[in-house]
Amino acid sequence: MTGSRRLNVVVGISGGIAAYKAVNVVRALVLEGHDVHVIATDAALRFVGKPTLEAISRNPVNSDLYEGVAQVRHVSIGQAADLIVIAPATANTLAKLAHGLADDLLGNTVLASTAPIVVAPAMHTEMWGNPATRANVALLRTRGITIVGPASGRLTGEDVGAGRMSEPDDIVRAALAAVDGAGADSAAVPAASTPGAPDADVTAPSSGDLAGFRVLISAGGTREPLDPVRFLGNRSSGRQGVALAAAAFERGASVTLLAAHLEVPVPEGVAVVHVQTAAELEEAARDHAQRSDLVIMAAAVADYRPAGVAEQKIKKETAGDRVTLELVRNPDILATIAAERRDGRVVVGFAAETAADEDELVRVGRAKLERKGCDYLVLNRVGWSLGFAAEDNAVVVVQRGGDIVMEASGSKATVAHRILDAVHPALLPRA
Ligand code: C5P
Repeated sequence: MTGSRRLNVVVGISGGIAAYKAVNVVRALVLEGHDVHVIATDAALRFVGKPTLEAISRNPVNSDLYEGVAQVRHVSIGQAADLIVIAPATANTLAKLAHGLADDLLGNTVLASTAPIVVAPAMHTEMWGNPATRANVALLRTRGITIVGPASGRLTGEDVGAGRMSEPDDIVRAALAAVDGAGADSAAVPAASTPGAPDADVTAPSSGDLAGFRVLISAGGTREPLDPVRFLGNRSSGRQGVALAAAAFERGASVTLLAAHLEVPVPEGVAVVHVQTAAELEEAARDHAQRSDLVIMAAAVADYRPAGVAEQKIKKETAGDRVTLELVRNPDILATIAAERRDGRVVVGFAAETAADEDELVRVGRAKLERKGCDYLVLNRVGWSLGFAAEDNAVVVVQRGGDIVMEASGSKATVAHRILDAVHPALLPRA
């Protein structure tokens, strides 16, 4: 434990609007009793003033590689550090870190240090989701660098999405935890263990075995409108799909969540596309599946939708005592994606069945797997008091051909990791 040990902490600040929040990272570390040395890039100093950072850190702020050359500061600061926290880390800074560039004081300090490094990315959603950034983050993770966030939420402008810097307290907590864990394995503090990730009580593996993979997950339940205020829906809370997204992210994957009405928050670091209906989900799923290595369809999709949507609210005065709804079949998205997949893409479906026992569950599941043409089907029993919205889950996974490859029960986070373990062998190895 860091306990009461006074750490020499280098806080690197790069040039994004979230730099103003870095002041609170510095402040929290100082208030915890640590000796904080700020290295601000030139771009960072356009967003926040040196006097502010010097007053809050109670130390001179370093920014210029060519100042104090006689003390070889680019080496000495890094060597003296017990911990390096970079917040915010822009896409550019992540790229520089990933490739070991040292064209400024921060880059040199990082290369000259053996201290745990904790990075809090902040950028616009598209930049965060860009394959170049994803690859850089995956690379940093494999080197044991802790990535905190980013969170999903309001960005600089009007938009909302993944890319918002995590809250200063969360960054500080993750940073100090990284020092605690550094003796064993500094990568043991996964980015998604920051608050907001579900089931944080579960220790996720830190192997990063999904680094470089793009994972698409659908979660929640679709809603099919009847009129402007009513819909046909289902009881799915999205918990299992969200736990899968968090687990895949923790293991280094670039994760996109197709969210069809979730009752739980989207995990930090996961890109999210909100959908309402099966038709919207189909469009988004087919589009994103093209760019995904692993597709997991955990959403409860309405099999039918109303044949027509009333323009005005349906009123009992005009509809009378008995109303007949005409429903039409929705497309089977999972079957479509399975049929359209290229070599190497792994497609996983879910089947929630009201089976009497496990034998019936597996029998129904095998037939469904065959029909849908996916690689794996995750089966679970549901009923009035079983399955939906519960914190725990119990699943059986069958693979193409019908063999049972895994059975698991426990929290939805535990089950999520077991599902990823089960399907991982089917993924093509990364170069
Ligand atoms: O046929 P059933 O609804 O039991 O199949 C469940 C699986 O199929 C889930 O993976 C679900 O996401 C997917 N599904 C789908 N499109 C539908 C219905 C279900 O992709 N219209």
